[in-house]
Amino acid sequence: MIAETNFKPGLEGVVAAETRLSSVDGEAGELIIAGFPLEELAPNAAFEEMVYLLWHDRLPDAAELAVFRNRMAAARGLPPAALDLLRAAARDAAPAMDALRMAAGALTGGDDHEADAVRLVACFPTIVAAYRRLLNGQMPLEPRPDLGHAANYLYMLVGETPDQTRTRALETYLNTVVDHGLNASTFAARVIISTGSDMVSAVVGALGALKGPLHGGAPGPALNLVFEIGEAANAETVLRRRLEAGERLMGFGHRVYKVRDPRADVLAAAAEKLFQAGGDRALYELARAVENTALRLLEEYKPGRRLQTNVEFYTALVLHGLGLPAELFTPTFAISRAAGWTAHAFEQIAAGRIIRPQSAYTGTKTRRWTPLAAR
Ligand code: COA
Repeated sequence: MIAETNFKPGLEGVVAAETRLSSVDGEAGELIIAGFPLEELAPNAAFEEMVYLLWHDRLPDAAELAVFRNRMAAARGLPPAALDLLRAAARDAAPAMDALRMAAGALTGGDDHEADAVRLVACFPTIVAAYRRLLNGQMPLEPRPDLGHAANYLYMLVGETPDQTRTRALETYLNTVVDHGLNASTFAARVIISTGSDMVSAVVGALGALKGPLHGGAPGPALNLVFEIGEAANAETVLRRRLEAGERLMGFGHRVYKVRDPRADVLAAAAEKLFQAGGDRALYELARAVENTALRLLEEYKPGRRLQTNVEFYTALVLHGLGLPAELFTPTFAISRAAGWTAHAFEQIAAGRIIRPQSAYTGTKTRRWTPLAAR
């Protein structure tokens, strides 16, 4: 019999894994990735350097990075079964996260966890870009091995080689959301791999968890709020109306961060650089005005709740600035987080213990079998 006091709904406050991958301090507003402050790592590292760091617990030197980039680039192609699934999904106009889950599930996993991890991380941009093009009635583009992971993703979406500013903005985004403690999808991946299952199964399970709106689904609505406001002069009226109606402002508040989410700052700086270099500068200015007004009004309507801008608000702005449609925001999050999931899976394999919590039975124990005819 399990004492009722042991039951923690949502596992809140339960420590279920040890990790060297990321440290989230919500009171200090601090995110450390594999020993580095996020602010230092995210705007500087290439995504491949980030993946190498998570998997090997150190930054690669130039030769190691070159080998790793080539290995990733060589693993970008999709098996025909995955492309067939994407074509079928496009005929049904399936949501992009479903298409990503289907195509990722068409990869076969085995005993070579590292080879599977390389293939999964390498393939995700190919899957998402191919599906986007199929939905638009276009032919998928072959991945370009001469481009890095981030630049190749942008290339495969639109068929143009992105400039350095756009590539940097996407790499900063991918680095920023690559890992975040024992979030729901990461936990799902660790549970699956802990049974002795394979990397593909762990990552497909994690994708299912990420799809939920409570986890990976908020940046679209955050951007809609900015679009709905339309110009800075309307911000106060629209936001007040929403708060008066008891609605939540998308892109604000966080379960863990009670000061500003450090990822929001890193992405705000990335957005500023991106929009300075071109694009819709007015949208960037509007978003900042909306943010300032929202923070002021949240303090007025929800005093003491410490509601701050979260990562989704600036995710929306950066990804929109890169020309990505809102339907690709969560799949692009998955492109990054696949590196975190696989890194956690490696840690879990090393921990070598199945994750198997208990449940507290709340039903009766006194029922007796009644034959069907007698019920
Ligand atoms: N806008 C307005 N009020 C908000 C709010 C928001 N974005 N987020 C929280 N609140 C309010 C709640 O209504 C609650 O008010 P009350 O005490 O008067 O009832 C109070 O702040 C505490 O909220 P709580 O639900 O305990 O916070 P949480 O930690 O459970 O919620 C989120 C965290 C992220 C789910 C929540 O802040 C939210 O829904 N934000 C908007 C969606 C979003 O941006 N999600 C992406 C997260 S990365």
